[in-house]
Amino acid sequence: MCGIVGYIGDRDCADVLVDALSKLEYRGYDSAGIAVFDKGTIKVEKCKGRLINLVNKMELEGKPNGHCGIGHTRWATHGEPSDINSHPHGNKRVSIVHNGIIENYKQIKDFLIGEGYSFVSETDTETVAKLLDYYYVDDPIDTIIKVISEIKGSYALGIMFRDYPDRIFAVRKESPLIVGVGENENFLASDVPAIIKYTRDYYLLEADEIAVVKKDGVSIYNTHKEPVKKEINTADWDVDAAEKGGYEHFMLKEIYEQPSAVRDTISHRITDGMPDFSNDGIDMEQLKKYRQIFIVGCGTAMHAGMVGQYVIEKLARIPVIVDIASEFRYRDPLITDKDLLIVISQSGETADTLAVLRLAKEVNAATMAIVNVVGSSIAREADMVVYTHAGPEISVASTKAYMVQISVMYLLAFELAYLNGAISEEMCRKLTEELKSMPDIIKETLELKDTCSYVASKLMNAESLLYIGRGLDYALSMEGSLKLKEISYIHSESYAAGELKHGTISLITDGMPVIAVATQKKLIEKTISNIKEVKARGARVVLICADGVEVGEDVADYIIRLPQVDEQLMPMVAAAPLQLIAYYTSVLKGNDVDKPRNLAKSVTVE
Ligand code: F6R
Repeated sequence: MCGIVGYIGDRDCADVLVDALSKLEYRGYDSAGIAVFDKGTIKVEKCKGRLINLVNKMELEGKPNGHCGIGHTRWATHGEPSDINSHPHGNKRVSIVHNGIIENYKQIKDFLIGEGYSFVSETDTETVAKLLDYYYVDDPIDTIIKVISEIKGSYALGIMFRDYPDRIFAVRKESPLIVGVGENENFLASDVPAIIKYTRDYYLLEADEIAVVKKDGVSIYNTHKEPVKKEINTADWDVDAAEKGGYEHFMLKEIYEQPSAVRDTISHRITDGMPDFSNDGIDMEQLKKYRQIFIVGCGTAMHAGMVGQYVIEKLARIPVIVDIASEFRYRDPLITDKDLLIVISQSGETADTLAVLRLAKEVNAATMAIVNVVGSSIAREADMVVYTHAGPEISVASTKAYMVQISVMYLLAFELAYLNGAISEEMCRKLTEELKSMPDIIKETLELKDTCSYVASKLMNAESLLYIGRGLDYALSMEGSLKLKEISYIHSESYAAGELKHGTISLITDGMPVIAVATQKKLIEKTISNIKEVKARGARVVLICADGVEVGEDVADYIIRLPQVDEQLMPMVAAAPLQLIAYYTSVLKGNDVDKPRNLAKSVTVE
């Protein structure tokens, strides 16, 4: 949420900042701004709307001219999107960009008003800028240390002091921030895609470490003002990974990257045909001893957890509770040191998921994170980390991250089931072999794109629709429905098919679309009965089922047939068509697929 960048070097700073921000727009896109040292003063340009509005504004009015500055793309928390509320904030002496939420901003603001300060915006960020100004005498580091000792909440801050035009300052807590290390130029960024074009090397800042970023070097200090020595990280993917590469949207590109993402995620976790997490440093013998497993995440990541719940319980016979992070953290959960918590997160920065991880650690539960972003907060704080290898996911709607998350869930389930004696070695090998074939099967399902586009054309004018399924198909329907609503803006709900007649079926009206997912043989007859119930009430049904399943052609108005694999694995087969239906519906409606309204990637606030 909110993207921060910073630059110092020989290039045109405004150009670099805008270019870097364009790679972070997925973090927030309701306004954008930059501040650049221009002939000894801090020159600020900012405005409401997408980054392109800022670019157009600077084309008309002229851009700041210099080689050192900071930039921001905003996802509004305090105050509506407007020119005034856009970052950077500050005054002639100090300018800042901020990602996060300052919880005690009201007290600070009242205090500063008492000291004679006035405020122009509704943001919490402006209070930090003015507090920096208030404490600033001549030493920026002392000032930053003082300010971070007073502010509460989450922050990643890029800071400029007028008296120090040869450097930018940065500090973070809870919100992510990296310092990119180039040759005779250095960078700040919320995420690697912003800087990958310029450098793959970066420092990860720990909480409350203060970075002083100059053209020829980076110094990092702790809150006692002592220098901190840090290892440089190197991103293992290249510029192409953060570009659209000929696809119309990142979402489509990411859907098509799923076969390779799954391959990259599972192949080095299979040895001699058996799951193997030893390279992740995980002691599986220990893992199977936990009383129960909690799987927690938000949105799509939680839906991946639902698939995990089904397969771990079914195969390994270990009780699993799956929950939404924002609920779990406040329910006073019954988690103890005898339990294992698995958190799932693409970004590794989701505030609620991180809070759940910390809560579990407080009670000494074992914690495992399934995370995509290397070095993210969740990855750093969990006892065990299983990295997914999806590469950067830029589109706000998550696709390939989901696919790799469930692939890890399967491998874990297979190994736990085998170690528990719930399945034989032969069965474990068979399932693992089948999982290994999934990249090819997913590729096959991508050939259904025209079918999905046709279905989308039938859905695009609907006001509301339902997704129904049972068991694993219900978990999948949840994800299909979320994908559709977030990018097409069509209201949709996912219901357990058997639950419809307990209330929801009253919503069915003539012509209402219902997408029924029925990939589980044992449950197909039941789901078909539910389909008949909705059809009898006028619904237009799209049935998604496996190839081998015998269903009468008249059961549904449209049938999408998927390659048949072991039915435990069918979510990996059905996910891509569901994503494609959502994608094409959004495209046909003319929506901004990669940056849907009101959303942002990486939800670093509660
Ligand atoms: C939906 C989507 C979100 C995220 C959720 C968790 O397409 O992307 O629902 O899945 O915000 O994000 P991470 O996985 O970064 O914790």
